[in-house]
Amino acid sequence: MSLLIDGKPHGLTVNSFTSVSLDPPLVLICVDKGSKSADALGRAPFAINVLTAKQEDYAWHFAGKAQFTDIPWHHGQDGLPFLPDTLARILCAPWSVNDGGDHLVVIGKVFDIHSSENDALAFFSGQFSRLQPGKAQKALPKKETSIQQEMN
Ligand SMILES: Cc1cc2nc3c(=O)[nH]c(=O)nc-3n(C[C@H](O)[C@H](O)[C@H](O)COP(=O)(O)O)c2cc1C
Repeated sequence: MSLLIDGKPHGLTVNSFTSVSLDPPLVLICVDKGSKSADALGRAPFAINVLTAKQEDYAWHFAGKAQFTDIPWHHGQDGLPFLPDTLARILCAPWSVNDGGDHLVVIGKVFDIHSSENDALAFFSGQFSRLQPGKAQKALPKKETSIQQEMN
């Protein structure tokens, strides 16, 4: 996700977002209360940048493992920063910030959305991987096959 903090673009890698409501269109992300973004959320609009399989470097960069010296930010309404060439971008106005233990459950109201055709970056079992349309199920062995293999 990305937002402006004190007028400067800031990004934070989050593992997922969730659809909350269709009318109004609401989505949520969970953000560590100790993160730099925590104070600004609730007041500032934010962007959800869904990364493509080729954008793993962004995920590491915004998780605090710098890969870039300069981020090629694009800017939307009121300067809201978002990443270029993502699988999807979802621009949100602040809706609510709720207590979620050591995280904030941040709900945003979607005011703009854009998507592209690309493979997605997935995070599973501690590793980044590529998620291809229509291939997720094919990657899983058929139940009969795996039972058969276990018996052999
Ligand atoms: C795969 C992955 C998923 C993460 N998901 C979250 C998340 O959902 N929420 C969160 O607050 N931090 C998450 N983090 C950790 C933050 O990206 C990291 O703490 C970041 O450095 C915080 O930056 P900031 O304090 O500068 O905003 C994740 C990190 C990785 C590598």
